[in-house]
Amino acid sequence: MTKVTPWDVEGKIDYDKLIREFGVQKITTSLIDKINKIAGKNNFMLDRKIFFAHRDLEFALKEHEKDNLFLYTGCGPSGSIHLGHAMVWKFTKWLQDVLDVDLWFQFTDDEKFLFKDKSFEEIQELMKDNMLDVIALGFNPKKTHFLIDTKHASIMYPEAIKVAKKLTASSIKSCFGLGDSDNVGMFFYTAMQAVPAFLPSILKKKKMACLIPHAIDQDPHFRLTRDILPKLGFFKPASIQCSFLPPLTGVEGKMSSSGDAFIALTDTPEQVKKKINKYAFSGGQDTLEEHRKRGGNPDIDISFQYLRFLFEPDDKKLSKIKSDYRTGKLLSGELKKILIDKINDFLKHHQAEREKAKKKVDQFVLKI
Ligand code: TRP
Repeated sequence: MTKVTPWDVEGKIDYDKLIREFGVQKITTSLIDKINKIAGKNNFMLDRKIFFAHRDLEFALKEHEKDNLFLYTGCGPSGSIHLGHAMVWKFTKWLQDVLDVDLWFQFTDDEKFLFKDKSFEEIQELMKDNMLDVIALGFNPKKTHFLIDTKHASIMYPEAIKVAKKLTASSIKSCFGLGDSDNVGMFFYTAMQAVPAFLPSILKKKKMACLIPHAIDQDPHFRLTRDILPKLGFFKPASIQCSFLPPLTGVEGKMSSSGDAFIALTDTPEQVKKKINKYAFSGGQDTLEEHRKRGGNPDIDISFQYLRFLFEPDDKKLSKIKSDYRTGKLLSGELKKILIDKINDFLKHHQAEREKAKKKVDQFVLKI
């Protein structure tokens, strides 16, 4: 069974079907060209269709020309930050750099308190921790503003109720599959996630366009948001959406920080090595002899997939790895070793930046 909701992603995902069901657009080559032209360079996550769908992206780029665009994304603090988050946020940072625009970063402590079996205090601790990872990824502190739902309630709540007044319980039920035994906070929450899509327009006293980079499971929130914002006098938010980084155990579903089959950005080099060797699903053959003879399948091999999604931006190098693996020249263990080294290089830098981030949090949290 396939399932894609903001809090549950399971099974083998048919992205073309999802595009039809969600009513989003495919990112075309001509649209990629447009972005490349603005950026002055290409991005492998677009070229490889990792970011593959959008809503109103053309409109957002037009507004960018008029200097009237901001970016918005977010983090629900419920566990450790892992490679799946890093993928979305690295692309978001790239967009922020090439577009040179403000980024509003929402931390939904309310959401995770309402949806998870965790205390408010636990969520606050996780959030502080998660912020360090976001900062460590290198966002521009002058142009990045953290909005924390409960901390910034005095400016967010008055806007959220305007959204909530136009949102019926029945649309929440049908959009997310919530039922009468779910808590009422869960029903209200989408109104909070809508707020950063128009709060900057209010603060700047100017009707601005918003572009949201996110994984496709968040689309239902923004589908509802898009219906409501024009009624409040704002633009519908645009979005650019990515597929899911798979869990270590195989190409179905998405990486999540429950269980052990994920790489956290705080993992040690030994943990990374152990997890990849133990869990990373291999598309290789059972014996060395057979592998040399028949080769491996990179399409289902998690180590290859992580290189494709995140760790080998160079297309030539990636396709060499792919063909060497297919022909049996490259062994599963060797492929894993390539990935382990790449991840550990990234984490070494990340964790050094993460230490420095401890002193930078105040620069990022919006002052009210
Ligand atoms: N709901 C998201 C989560 O569970 C967090 C979030 C809030 C978000 N606003 C967003 C994600 C905007 C992407 C874009 O993680």
